[in-house]
Amino acid sequence: MKIKKLQGSFGAKVCNIDLKSNLEREDFEKIKTAFVKYQLLIFPSQKLEPKHQLTWSKHFGPIQKLYAEEHRIPDCPEVVVLSNEQINGKHVGVVAAGDYWHSDLSPSNNPGLATILYARRLPSEGGDTEFADMHMAYQTLSTKMRKQIANLRGIHCISKLRNHRVKVTRPGGRAYYKKQNEIPDVSHPLVRTHPVSGLKSLYLSPRFTIGIENMEDIKAQPLLDELFAHQIKPEHIYRHKWKIDDLVMWDNRSLNHRACGGYKTDDIRRIHRTSTLGDQPF
Ligand SMILES: [Fe+2]
Repeated sequence: MKIKKLQGSFGAKVCNIDLKSNLEREDFEKIKTAFVKYQLLIFPSQKLEPKHQLTWSKHFGPIQKLYAEEHRIPDCPEVVVLSNEQINGKHVGVVAAGDYWHSDLSPSNNPGLATILYARRLPSEGGDTEFADMHMAYQTLSTKMRKQIANLRGIHCISKLRNHRVKVTRPGGRAYYKKQNEIPDVSHPLVRTHPVSGLKSLYLSPRFTIGIENMEDIKAQPLLDELFAHQIKPEHIYRHKWKIDDLVMWDNRSLNHRACGGYKTDDIRRIHRTSTLGDQPF
């Protein structure tokens, strides 16, 4: 097994390993350590059935079941299909998911820990995924800003309809998000401490963070805008151009990400997703 760091501040490629084989304990411990250290791991050329992806994912926390049944793999429902493919006029997976910067499931008390995506079909162009390093974003804030936000809590809201920074694009999206209006908002510290590394990171996103607890919007919104702009400075970002059979997994406790889109409706992209549950942010 070879772990090779990417050029930027985070991310590593892990080669010469088959994730469906029984790994040596030593290799597995190395991967777990690398996951926290590099935050994003890319395993090229994997040959995995959904059940293999599921078994691998379970090493990184309890599996979260997401989305409606029709978007999951029938005999392995913990694995969700992200795809623009339609069969007999019906979408086989979730279309246009994650198109704004976010950390998975931040509007819940126990947000996502690892998200694991496995590329099955790719469009001829587009379909990249971008990641942004929230440790680095925190470290490069001014001392004044770090003091200002030290004890503030962001309000995270799941429904797109209550967030003026985002648009609904998914087919049937308005009805879907209207139902989500009933789900209560959750607050988390703007500065989160990683439970394993102890490093601090910015924990907010334009997709989910709609306000700051105990702060009027007239003050909170410009502060959020400033932080959102800082989060996505080019030096904090890695853009992943997918290859078939890539398995990519990342740590939602310290990275934000977004789906870049940019492919045609009939140019099929199919990704298998698993997600694990994390701890309450502190
Ligand atoms: Fe996501």
